[in-house]
Amino acid sequence: MKHHIITSADGSTSLQLEQFDEAYHSINGAFTEAQHIYIDNCLEKLSSIENLTIFDVGFGSALNAILSLAWHISRRDGSGDILYCGIEKYPIQLSEIEQFNYCDKISEYYNIPLNKLRDLFIKIHHSPWEEVCEISTNFKLIKNRCDIADLKDEFYINRMINGGLAAIFYDTFSPATQPELWAEEIFVEIANGTPEGSILSTYCCKGIVKERLRKAGFNVSRVAGPPGKRHIIMAVK
Ligand SMILES: C[S@@+](CC[C@H](N)C(=O)[O-])C[C@H]1O[C@@H](n2cnc3c(N)ncnc32)[C@H](O)[C@@H]1O
Repeated sequence: MKHHIITSADGSTSLQLEQFDEAYHSINGAFTEAQHIYIDNCLEKLSSIENLTIFDVGFGSALNAILSLAWHISRRDGSGDILYCGIEKYPIQLSEIEQFNYCDKISEYYNIPLNKLRDLFIKIHHSPWEEVCEISTNFKLIKNRCDIADLKDEFYINRMINGGLAAIFYDTFSPATQPELWAEEIFVEIANGTPEGSILSTYCCKGIVKERLRKAGFNVSRVAGPPGKRHIIMAVK
């Protein structure tokens, strides 16, 4: 999907699609949005769980991945196992990654040396697809190049190798741009493949999305959103 780099309101970079009126992140703050939705309202709620599998649907520029790793290093002291499973149909070019400035903000927020974080960000992007790679102590990554709409429940079950619970970051483009990616069938496969107590969080708060998540077996609640967005969804299996 053709895109170009932009700077969002909190100073962090994002990507703007050329053919749609949509960016990879909120223009009100890419870092602020991702921290609020995927860390504060998802990972933090699972922080007492030793072994976590994170499904990042729409891996993109790996903002959610580097944030999760910073959270793991800083808030959990690198303890407890995390398997980070990125799902992406249109990987970005490696030549683009130098343009992203996420590490500056994240280094400040989590008090992690900037050089260390930059090295980890590069390691995340350079790790081979379809292979489990150790990125940092107790933090493994597997990037899957595939279409979320093709995945069946076995995919999720097979990735739950550590046991524990799953955090699902549902971060595809909006229903206006990609309506097929918000189908009930996709949520059913995710629900059937992940253990009770797992949490799916997403920036989209449309009624139809809430209804489909409920029908798929999630307990859905609306929580306050990041700047520029009144509500987001937190859905517990
Ligand atoms: C809103 S962006 C999220 C970006 C990402 N989380 C980040 O921090 O950069 C949506 C992402 O979903 C990916 N995507 C689009 N269609 C997809 C599909 N059918 N299956 C999996 N990923 C898809 C896009 O390429 C893009 O990277």
